[in-house]
Amino acid sequence: MTSLAGRRIVLGVSGGIAAYKAVEVCRRLVDLGAHVSPVLTQGALRFVGETTFSALGSERVQTSLWDEVSPIPHTRLGQQADLVLVCPATARVLGTFAAGISNDLLTATLLATRAPVVVCPAMHTEMWEHPAVQDNLALLVRRGVHVVPPGEGRLAGGDIGKGRLAEPVDVVAAVQRLLSPKPLAGWRVVVSSGGTREPIDPVRFIGNRSSGKQGHALASEAFERGASVTVVTTVDRPLPAGIVQERVETAEQMRQAMMAAAVDADLVVMAAAVADFRPVDPAAGKIKKDKGVPQIVLEPTPDILAGLGSIKRPGQILVGFAAETSDLRDNALGKLTRKGADLIVANDVSAPQVGFEHDTNQVVILVRRPGSDEVEAIDVPLDDKRRIAAAVLDVAQSLRSGEHQHDNALG
Ligand code: CTP
Repeated sequence: MTSLAGRRIVLGVSGGIAAYKAVEVCRRLVDLGAHVSPVLTQGALRFVGETTFSALGSERVQTSLWDEVSPIPHTRLGQQADLVLVCPATARVLGTFAAGISNDLLTATLLATRAPVVVCPAMHTEMWEHPAVQDNLALLVRRGVHVVPPGEGRLAGGDIGKGRLAEPVDVVAAVQRLLSPKPLAGWRVVVSSGGTREPIDPVRFIGNRSSGKQGHALASEAFERGASVTVVTTVDRPLPAGIVQERVETAEQMRQAMMAAAVDADLVVMAAAVADFRPVDPAAGKIKKDKGVPQIVLEPTPDILAGLGSIKRPGQILVGFAAETSDLRDNALGKLTRKGADLIVANDVSAPQVGFEHDTNQVVILVRRPGSDEVEAIDVPLDDKRRIAAAVLDVAQSLRSGEHQHDNALG
């Protein structure tokens, strides 16, 4: 467990019933050695007492821009912080922060810091799902703010739904992850994400169900581990600011972008679902139905992963995926060998909650370690795609450092 000794954390608590859970977060952070400065909004004070946080935190609670000896408490707090955590973050605080408005000590501190910011939204389902809240959150994510998403469960007033504050242990784990050493510092990572679209005519295409969630999770995780990251993507999904994005549509465009980006990369991940076939001759104008059923002749697309395998330079790590509906391991093993990858992340896309469009995945990672003929298989149980990404990167990192990975180190 990563110690937080000496790390200064501003714990911002805003006004929701989940504020009582921030007490436990405060306690756990202090137990891990952090110096916690609690900042409560006026709303928070209606749910929890100042004394509780003053007793558990590392310094007296602050609630106002105007009551400290120092005339500018927000800049002191913001500048000294290694991390600002807002737990719970109400719709108001998210909106105020997204709009760049500082109307209390917490929002002023959020604008006055260059430290990483983590927000833990908690609110009723209707509020959580409101486009205004989701848009504000997407904007904050683009600016590099980290989100510990809410879970589902019992809400204030007895309602049940999404919007319940994440568990305190998960909040603390997110803080530890952000403040932990950066094992991928100095690495250049390239990830492909989404599904390609092969035009039939100007309005139709051959596509697939890939959402880009797994590829984007890999890119975000690598970025959080300190890598400089390029994503070659067919989809628009929020990514932390600082990740370079290249938009493509077809397999050929993705091939060109990946081959160029991979030249000086340390780790290349082909997470995209690439169409295997494309129309030979896409129609220049829309195909009209009164001309009868069209004959669409297909040709194979280039295999990008195999192409990357053929130009792979020594030391570079190449990761492929295998989307299967049967004979998972055998098919994945064939792809590992045929395409020259070091690692194949195989999933059975017909299993419940696994693969395309889901937020979760369950995979087997096949890995061939340098200098070895044997292929190791690591089972990663059903988990959210970010944790699957973490497991994949753990294995990739172990290839570089030469350390041996054990099954139970993952998951
Ligand atoms: N891939 C690729 N270029 C293609 C097809 C696939 O780079 N034209 C990559 C995918 O990004 C993935 C891996 O190859 O990393 C395996 O993709 P998958 O669709 O599982 O396998 P295919 O090689 O297409 O074989 P099949 O469809 O027969 O299972």
